[in-house]
Amino acid sequence: MTQLSIRNVVKRYGDAEVIRRLSFDIQPGEFAVFVGPSGCGKSTLLRMIAGLEEFHEGEIAIGGRVVNALAPSQRDIAMVFQDYALYPHMTVRSNITLSLKVAGMAKAEIQRKLDHVAGVLQIGHLLERKPRELSGGQRQRVAMGRAMVRDPKIFLFDEPLSNLDAKLRVDMRAEIKQLHQRLGATMVYVTHDQVEAMTLADRIVVLRDGRIEQVGTPAELYAQPVSKFVAGFIGSPAMNLLSVDIVQGNIALPGSSRWSPEGVASHVNIKADLGLRPEHLTLSDDGPGLQGRITLIEPLGADTLVTVAVADTPLVARLPGDTVLQLDAPIRLAFNPAKAVLFGTDGLRLGAAAAAQTTYVH
Ligand SMILES: Nc1ncnc2c1ncn2[C@@H]1O[C@H](COP(=O)(O)OP(=O)(O)OP(=O)(O)O)[C@@H](O)[C@H]1O
Ligand SMILES: [Mg+2]
Repeated sequence: MTQLSIRNVVKRYGDAEVIRRLSFDIQPGEFAVFVGPSGCGKSTLLRMIAGLEEFHEGEIAIGGRVVNALAPSQRDIAMVFQDYALYPHMTVRSNITLSLKVAGMAKAEIQRKLDHVAGVLQIGHLLERKPRELSGGQRQRVAMGRAMVRDPKIFLFDEPLSNLDAKLRVDMRAEIKQLHQRLGATMVYVTHDQVEAMTLADRIVVLRDGRIEQVGTPAELYAQPVSKFVAGFIGSPAMNLLSVDIVQGNIALPGSSRWSPEGVASHVNIKADLGLRPEHLTLSDDGPGLQGRITLIEPLGADTLVTVAVADTPLVARLPGDTVLQLDAPIRLAFNPAKAVLFGTDGLRLGAAAAAQTTYVH
């Protein structure tokens, strides 16, 4: 049975339609991550699932039961908000344990759960404080703790790690992933952070202006983005885009081989954008390649990110960390056309299998 079913939902604020006839199903135990730019409707959608936001059309069902008319407390969900929403007059301890007390759980069991989350979240020393005496990151961890002690049908997370420092963020990300694996719980998670999306998600949903732009596994979205918009959102550094002319179905780049991408008919003459992931660019000492000049070197340890100005376009290549590189020096980058993706001027990927099986034309 589908755990969460969103059917043709529409939400308007005044005249503005912010969720636009959106449908999506989440299976039991699935970890779904919603990503998209600020204002695209992520929080609104999550609040609709939680029952905190009414909507105008459509249906939301949890565990097979339509919940449109149910109050948040009747939906068996736990939500961690973007802005924490802690009870200001209660201590951290009470904020975390309130739902367990209300449910009539035994004192010893409540204590055990509290000890566990306080340890994981490193908030043991804050239990007697009130929310106003906490930093943003500490409040966020308390909000996480409040959800973690429960055992709901669905966890809803709205950017729960956005206020944490880098180290804690990585730790908490791992903790959420383990929580998911341990509980086998269904999770819906909203984030701006594409690393969080890639590492946590079974499936990523890319939202744009209240609509779904693409749904897929992280690997699918990474390798086969349907549009430049998705390509720009998934992967860091972002996919490089190089403007090219397709002439009679062929692409010719200066200093590079001419080739005819699969899925582009031989009579086609159009402008397109060639999408190249940084790790698909390699150093080419001789043979064909894109000629450019190094404008930036960013060593990351295992890899080095090199920005190369090819004509007027900066391309970022991810090269092995021990590659010898010099600022301003000329460089030639090769790429495997089979890994490249092509986007038309409308921003959509050309042909489903475009560039997937490319034959070189020398
Ligand atoms: N109470 C409201 N009244 C009017 N418009 C609203 C209200 N709440 C949200 N909006 C608008 O609805 C749209 C979606 O907002 P939402 O908060 O869902 O975006 P988001 O994707 O979560 O963005 P962010 O990444 O910045 O949190 C935005 O254009 C926002 O301005
Ligand atoms: Mg939001």
